[in-house]
Amino acid sequence: MTGSGQIIDGKAHAARLRADIAQAVIARASAGARAPALAVVLVGDDPASHVYVRNKTAACREAGITSIEHRRDATLPEAELLALVQQLNRDPAVDGILVQLPLPAHIDSARIISAISPDKDVDGFSPVNAGRLATGLDGFVPCTPLGCLRLLQSTLGDIAGAEAIVIGRSNIVGRPMASLLIGASATVTVAHSRSRDLPGLVRRADIVIAAVGRPEMVRGSWLKPGCTVIDVGINRVPKESGEGTRLVGDVAFAEAAEVAAHITPVPGGVGPMTIACLLENTLKAASLQ
Ligand code: GUN
Repeated sequence: MTGSGQIIDGKAHAARLRADIAQAVIARASAGARAPALAVVLVGDDPASHVYVRNKTAACREAGITSIEHRRDATLPEAELLALVQQLNRDPAVDGILVQLPLPAHIDSARIISAISPDKDVDGFSPVNAGRLATGLDGFVPCTPLGCLRLLQSTLGDIAGAEAIVIGRSNIVGRPMASLLIGASATVTVAHSRSRDLPGLVRRADIVIAAVGRPEMVRGSWLKPGCTVIDVGINRVPKESGEGTRLVGDVAFAEAAEVAAHITPVPGGVGPMTIACLLENTLKAASLQ
């Protein structure tokens, strides 16, 4: 099979999910409940983080979810950030808490994430929620892998028995993605920078999840014909013309689309689903309160 790669339209999937969430928020309001509320904490001035937070806030507003931004200087002492998280944990008007990563180097991210109440941890990064996912219990699932699973299931239906490879082992994507795929009864390989013969491993896979953060690393020639490719990468690279930059994924898209049956584009694939799943998790957090 060549030249037939069908593009998985993440934007369209996300728009449907967001419309469903907006409906559910309206239904809650008719029943007398207040709007779900998300507290977003942004420390420092990482430009990409500012863009992500702006997009998340706009998506909340559009779905009828209240978002409260807490911006702090890059010099914020760790103890003050901890105190802010604890205050948000106690605040009955806050359903979900999101601390945008990366945090400045002087702050221990693991300590901050562990301090978020598991019932408000809409990113699903706390050890409690990571443990729930790893052991098959209900909890908050990190938004990016959850979005990837949704795209896979709406494209392929049941993925039980499929050979899947996850390239990358981060706590934000790779590890939770592997847990979700295991939960869906796929046969899962987790590859990373120390894996031997990555092309050979990828060649076996019906489902390829690329989450390494290296521009266009996965080549078309590595893929099994007819496979499904989910590209989590968002990498900014110089344009060929030498002027300005463009976004590319972790997969060499044009080559891969010649071999794969289904592939997500960058941008417009996984990214929009991440935000939609954040709204879904926030709605879930509000229902738990
Ligand atoms: N930084 C990059 N991705 C994410 C994410 O999904 N959540 C948070 N909190 N920070 C991030």
